[in-house]
Amino acid sequence: MPKNKQLVISSFSNDIREATTVMETDIPHINADQILVKNKYVGINALYDRELYRGRVPYIKVTFPYVFGVEAVGEVMAIGKNIKNVSVGDSVSTVKVGTAYQEYQAIDAAEIIKIPEATPEYLTINPTGVSAYLALQNVAELKAGEIIVVSAAAGGLGHIVVQLAKQKGCHVVAICGTEQKEALLTSLNCCNQIINHRKTDVDSFLSTEYANKIDVGFDSVGRHMFDAFLKNLAPLGRLVVSGLATEINEGVFQKVTGPRVYERIYWKGASVRCFMNHLYKDQHPEAREVLFSEYREGNLQVKVDPTPFRGIEAITEASEYLLAGKSCGKVVVTL
Ligand SMILES: NC(=O)c1ccc[n+]([C@@H]2O[C@H](COP(=O)([O-])OP(=O)(O)OC[C@H]3O[C@@H](n4cnc5c(N)ncnc54)[C@H](OP(=O)(O)O)[C@@H]3O)[C@@H](O)[C@H]2O)c1
Repeated sequence: MPKNKQLVISSFSNDIREATTVMETDIPHINADQILVKNKYVGINALYDRELYRGRVPYIKVTFPYVFGVEAVGEVMAIGKNIKNVSVGDSVSTVKVGTAYQEYQAIDAAEIIKIPEATPEYLTINPTGVSAYLALQNVAELKAGEIIVVSAAAGGLGHIVVQLAKQKGCHVVAICGTEQKEALLTSLNCCNQIINHRKTDVDSFLSTEYANKIDVGFDSVGRHMFDAFLKNLAPLGRLVVSGLATEINEGVFQKVTGPRVYERIYWKGASVRCFMNHLYKDQHPEAREVLFSEYREGNLQVKVDPTPFRGIEAITEASEYLLAGKSCGKVVVTL
């Protein structure tokens, strides 16, 4: 009898290996309105996961054992008797906290998205690409011709942000941390400047080349990166906090003593804004459709990290790889 291998949170810890266990359970039964999906690829959101297995995501109640992971693509294995528009063998994408890091999932039919093929690329678009699109549209309010500076630009999220910004006719400054990431960004052919923060001091570079000129700072890193973006915002500039990699990875928010954030931005009428994907659920269908179509038509490149991670057990390794800042494109595990 085949089993369902799962990675579960079994206690809270800062360390994924201490916090999690691999379990085997029966393959779930489905009710009349559900679908059984065999997950083929799962996406790694190591920074979000880290807060989850520390027990620090305020809107999720984690009870042990807790299956985690958000996004998967896979194949429909069985359908409930009320299901009309999905067939066994269809490829689907699922995005739901607490579902992905397992081999099989039972999910309500209303929560699946049919896709042409269950590939790492479709997995990257939904939801990472969707986040990029929604953050630019709703929070950055990016306009044609503006200057945007993007940190972690070669990551899963960042490499979509820079392409969408270029499509809008913006001047794109991409910041990344390795030569491999520089090469990825060059291959996208959409960045006006590519800065490796290990070779160039970002604060001095921006203060020299883009002083008071950043219309949109799109930051997923925090701390020194946030400070450098904030300092150089243009009048009416928007600093989008999309992620806090430095703070989350360190585990403790850095204490700073200094004037409040408005000291830098009041006279410029600039703002600091935070993005949170799940708060824009009503716009997910539109974003998905736009991005799926851009990808199909060859207008959007989707980059998946080439390091092979295979099987439920490899999720911890893939997570540690991302936390070490090594990821180049979206990190995906093949099940
Ligand atoms: N708010 C939301 O709804 C939402 C949705 C999706 C993603 N996010 C956030 O967006 C960011 C990107 O996510 P992703 O999954 O696509 O990851 P990613 O960008 O592929 O990987 C994280 C990258 O952040 C940079 N980084 C800098 N300091 C780091 C540190 N201390 N620890 C780890 N990474 C560090 C590294 O790039 P460099 O070497 O180039 O600096 C690293 O490769 C994350 O912060 C994530 O939490 C937020």
